[in-house]
Amino acid sequence: SAGEIGDKLNYKVFVVGGFVRDLILNRPNFDIDIVIEGDGIEFAEEFNKRLNGTINTYASFGTATVILETGEAIDIVTARREYYEHPAALPKIEKSSIWSDLFRRDFTINCMALQLNEKKFGTLLDYFGGLEDLENKKIRILYNLSFIEDPTRIFRAIRFAARMNFAIEEETKEFICKAISENMIKKLSEDRIREELVSILKDSYPHLGLKLLTEYGVINNLNSDLIIDADIIEKVQNITKSIKEFDSFNIEISKYKVIVLQILSSVNNLDEVMNLFFTTSHFEEIKNTLAHKNSIYEALLAENLDKYHLFTLLKGLSIESLVFYYNDCNDEYMRHYIMLYMLILRNISIHVTGEDLKKLNISPGPIYKKIFDEILKAKILGLVYSKEDELKFIEKN
Ligand code: CTP
Repeated sequence: SAGEIGDKLNYKVFVVGGFVRDLILNRPNFDIDIVIEGDGIEFAEEFNKRLNGTINTYASFGTATVILETGEAIDIVTARREYYEHPAALPKIEKSSIWSDLFRRDFTINCMALQLNEKKFGTLLDYFGGLEDLENKKIRILYNLSFIEDPTRIFRAIRFAARMNFAIEEETKEFICKAISENMIKKLSEDRIREELVSILKDSYPHLGLKLLTEYGVINNLNSDLIIDADIIEKVQNITKSIKEFDSFNIEISKYKVIVLQILSSVNNLDEVMNLFFTTSHFEEIKNTLAHKNSIYEALLAENLDKYHLFTLLKGLSIESLVFYYNDCNDEYMRHYIMLYMLILRNISIHVTGEDLKKLNISPGPIYKKIFDEILKAKILGLVYSKEDELKFIEKN
């Protein structure tokens, strides 16, 4: 129906960018970007009327977002006529509208368009060799200043390369390195950098993204205290597998948080580095988890470790911290103990209540907590089982 509306208004309508790329690759993508050669807002209003959606318009940009009843969002933009910006590269005027809209974008694989008007439905516009680069698995910029104009593209190149296991084309690689050496990353705000890092680390293959970020010197450029070696990259790769081991507990685990813990696991100057990955939330948790890491490992390997001690070591830790230790420690014994805690110890509770203690004429006070703790300890150590056992235990002690 988008094509129909375009025909009626006499505008050319295209679906562009990531949607086209993923369609060709047969990957799911529900972000639809539409470019109109004509008045994008007028088109969007007509489109919205027919689909009964909700519309937000941004008049000064000539863009609009239509949100369908299903919750899907469709972005509609007016093809930008930026002819004068690249005078040498201009094709014929009437064609240049969608052309220049595509030309100002990031990579060839993201710069293809499919026409939606009825008579030309499905015609692929591929002015910059995107199809060929998709076939050859290449990330390639369109013009030399791309990374200078928009340094977030350094991160985007790495994100797409990691996601699809594509190579960054040689010249593009050189332009990335040039932009980094000209300190272009520093021109981005802290928030932008964080958003891009988060996108890479939340994408399909974070360890590949991290590897590229390191190889290209992005990590070092961001903060020289942050050192990511092959061991860390391998451990980040293992996180998926480690999380699977925790699947049966049905606890939601933030994979991102585990990845960040792993990345930061050998950083000395945490205060300087954490804000690359989080705003302020989770700072305490990250610091505590990493600060106690060595002592916890040591305790887990101690010869006289008993179940109660194991319980006290791990209780109160977030699931992400536990998964991180599990993933990071590289030791079968430690992993076994962490699983023992997850499977059994953390679920042990006692039957006796405050009411029971009152009935035994014990007057309320800090003593209650002490008694409960002692019973729990006895229970974890297997000395008591039932409520009767617990009551007897109280009388005896
Ligand atoms: N784009 C760009 N430069 C940027 C950001 C975006 O040129 N810094 C262009 C790209 O052509 C991209 C389109 O805008 O295809 C939409 O951007 P976005 O939704 O971020 O990219 P997708 O390719 O859809 O990525 P994803 O698959 O991660 O959604």
